[in-house]
Amino acid sequence: MIDVNEKKQRDQWGSKIGFILAAAGSAIGLGNIWKFPFMAGQNGGGAFVFLYFAILIVVGFTLMMAELTIGRHTQLSPVGAYRKLKAKWAWVGFLGVLAGFLILSFYSVIGGWVIRYIVKALTGAFTISDPDALGGLFGAFITNPLEPLVYHAIFMALTLGIVIGGVKGGIEKYSKILMPSLFVMMILIMIRSLTLDGAMEGVKFLLLPDFSKINGGVVLAALGQVFFSLSLGMGTMITYGSYLNKDENLVDSSIQIPLLDTAIALVAGLAILPAVFAFGFNPEGGPGLLFITLPAVFSQMPLGSLFGVLFFVLVLFAALTSSISLLEVVVAYFVDEKNWDRKKSSLVFGLIIFLFGIPSSLGIGIWSDIRIIAGRDILDSVDFVASNVLLPLGGMLLCIFIGWVWGLDNAFKEVTNNGKIKFPLMNVWGFLVKWVAPIAIGIVFVQGLIDTFF
Ligand code: PHE
Repeated sequence: MIDVNEKKQRDQWGSKIGFILAAAGSAIGLGNIWKFPFMAGQNGGGAFVFLYFAILIVVGFTLMMAELTIGRHTQLSPVGAYRKLKAKWAWVGFLGVLAGFLILSFYSVIGGWVIRYIVKALTGAFTISDPDALGGLFGAFITNPLEPLVYHAIFMALTLGIVIGGVKGGIEKYSKILMPSLFVMMILIMIRSLTLDGAMEGVKFLLLPDFSKINGGVVLAALGQVFFSLSLGMGTMITYGSYLNKDENLVDSSIQIPLLDTAIALVAGLAILPAVFAFGFNPEGGPGLLFITLPAVFSQMPLGSLFGVLFFVLVLFAALTSSISLLEVVVAYFVDEKNWDRKKSSLVFGLIIFLFGIPSSLGIGIWSDIRIIAGRDILDSVDFVASNVLLPLGGMLLCIFIGWVWGLDNAFKEVTNNGKIKFPLMNVWGFLVKWVAPIAIGIVFVQGLIDTFF
C-alpha cells in the first residue's frame, strides 16, 4: 500500500548539485551559525571543538552514509523505510518524527529572532558598538512576551508556505545562488572579526583545547551538536537519500555534506568568538551570542548596516532550508502513513508546532523561573531532549539496525551500486557502523546523562 503511494509521488533530484545543495541546505542552518559558536563558548571552546571533530570523524561521516544508504535503497521516508526492511523497527522512524517536531518548535523561535534582526538592521540599529547597549536591546526583545511570538509565527508561516508549495523548483534554484553568497559573506565578516584588536584571544579560545574542561556533559553536548548540525539521527537524510537515483555516488556525498557543514560552522565560530573577546562580551553568553556580537562587528565595518541586512537575510534563508526539512519529516509521516493530504498536514502541524514553541519563547522572559532539565530553561530543555537524547538514540539504533538486522552485505551492495563503485574503506565503514559508532554513542550518551544530572 504505502509503496504504491510513495512511488506515485517519488521525485528525484534534478541534478547532482541539486541534491548536494538540498542536503547541505538542510544541514547548514542555525545549527552552524547560531548554535555552534555559543555551544563552543559555553563548553570550553577548544575542548568542545576538538570533541566535535573527533565525533564528526567517527560518527558523523559514518551515519551520513548510513542514512543516505537506507533512504536510497528503500526510496522511502523513515517510518516506511524501516517498515519495508523490518516491520518491527518502524517505531524508530517515529522517534525521528518526534525529534523533528520538537526541534522545529524552538528552531522557529530562533528563526523569528533572525527576522527581527533583519528589521532592526534595516532601521539602522547596527551602528551601535557598545556591548551593554546591544545586550540590552537584545534582552528587551527576547524577554518581551509578545513580540518574539509574532516573529515566531512569521517564520513558521514561511516554512509552512514552502513545504506546501513544493520544495523542488524554488529551493533548488535559490540555493545555488544564496548558499555560496552566505559563505562568501561569512568569510568577509570573519576577516573583519579576526582583525579587531584582541581577536587572537578568541581564536586561541576556539582552537586550543583545554582538556581539563572535558567531562561527560561536554562530550554529550558535542555529540548532540554533530547530530543537530548534520541533520542526523531523525531520518532527514534517509528522506533526502530516498530521492537519489541509483547511479549517484553515496560515498562522495557522505563526505562532501559534512565537510561543507563543518566549514560553515568553523567560519561562524571564527566570525563570532574573536569579536566576543575583542569587545569584551562573555563567551558563555548562550543563545544571544550571534545577535549581540555580530551587530558590534557590523558597526565596525564600512557599510555595516547594509552588511547586517544582507547577512541576516542569508541566515534566514539558511534557516528556512533547514526548517523545511524538519517540517517535511513530520508532514511526510502523516502523508505517507496516515494518508493525510499534504496541505492539510502542513497546516495542521505547522500550527501545532508553532503553539508548542510558545513556551520555549516565553521561558526566556516571563517564564524564566521555569527550569526543567538540570537548570535549563524551557527552550534549552526541549533542545536537550531532542538533540542530546532523541537524535543520538536514533543514530545508535540506525547503526544497530544496519549492522545487526539488515546486514552489512546489503548495505555494501547499496553503497557501491552493486559493485560498480570502488570504495576501499568499505570494511572500515562496516566496522564503524556495526561496532564503533553504536558503542561510542552509547557510552557518551549514558555518561553524558549521568554527568548532566548528577
Ligand atoms: N542541521 C540543521 C541546522 O544546523 C538543523 C536540523 C536538525 C535540520 C535536524 C534537520 C534535522 O540548522
